[in-house]
Amino acid sequence: MRDLSVLRRTYGTRDLATSPVFAGGFINFGYWAGIPLDGELTVAQRVASEEALYDLVVAALDVGPGDRVLEVGSGHGLGARRVLRRGPGEVRGVDLVPEQVARARRANDDPRVAFVQGACDDLPFPDGSFGALLSVEAAQHFEDVAGFARESARVLAPGGRLAVATFFTRTDDAAERLAGLLRTFASGLDRAHRVDDVARDLRAAGFAHVTADSIGEHVWRGLDRWLARGPRPDRWDRNWLTAFERGLVDYYLVTARKPAGSPV
Ligand SMILES: C[S@@+](CC[C@H](N)C(=O)[O-])C[C@H]1O[C@@H](n2cnc3c(N)ncnc32)[C@H](O)[C@@H]1O
Repeated sequence: MRDLSVLRRTYGTRDLATSPVFAGGFINFGYWAGIPLDGELTVAQRVASEEALYDLVVAALDVGPGDRVLEVGSGHGLGARRVLRRGPGEVRGVDLVPEQVARARRANDDPRVAFVQGACDDLPFPDGSFGALLSVEAAQHFEDVAGFARESARVLAPGGRLAVATFFTRTDDAAERLAGLLRTFASGLDRAHRVDDVARDLRAAGFAHVTADSIGEHVWRGLDRWLARGPRPDRWDRNWLTAFERGLVDYYLVTARKPAGSPV
């Protein structure tokens, strides 16, 4: 069983959202398409990038009126507001860290939204209870991606959609090389999951139409420009772009669908 102390410290007592890497309560690297990168970036642009990442995922899920939507790794719960813009019936968020669940509850007073504590590979919901499931920049932490895939397939109704956005690797030797470049891999907070293995785990769990598209061109350069903005750029953090350029890591939008004819 994995030691969860780094994860609990990072998101519990420390609250990673307060790091200057992030802004506005979100904790993701952002989707920067359409944001000019040649001038001084503003906090408003940083928040817009984080919202845009959610919007991309929510659009891929094709959320519509009446849908029940689950987010896994919901953090401060601000993604729920992006989902609500599509008019779903209900949004549920689940997060492993109790402090994150408390923050998400404080940030949302819409009666259609609720948050619970739970793990990606042991989701506290009945079979077939959602039409759509999203996860934004959380799966790089999951120890058991196959378990997450099985649990996602279980809680989705037949025909249900899944969309996951985060960073994955391509090669077997990436884990060791990433640990030498980036402290979040060295500490074990982030895990070097191969994107092909993630797609394989989703298929093995019964998902069809599994796609994994790189969106890194619209993530890494914007993130690097943002990291360069501070008075003392941290070389270690700026190694994200280096890792991308060396082919060690990329950012993906992964989508899948539970076949309409599957048993609940
Ligand atoms: C980088 S944050 C992203 C938060 C949010 N999705 C966002 O974009 O602002 C990752 C979140 O995933 C949660 N998390 C990590 N491992 C998890 C697991 N195994 N099950 C559920 N949540 C998990 C963390 O507690 C954290 O809140």
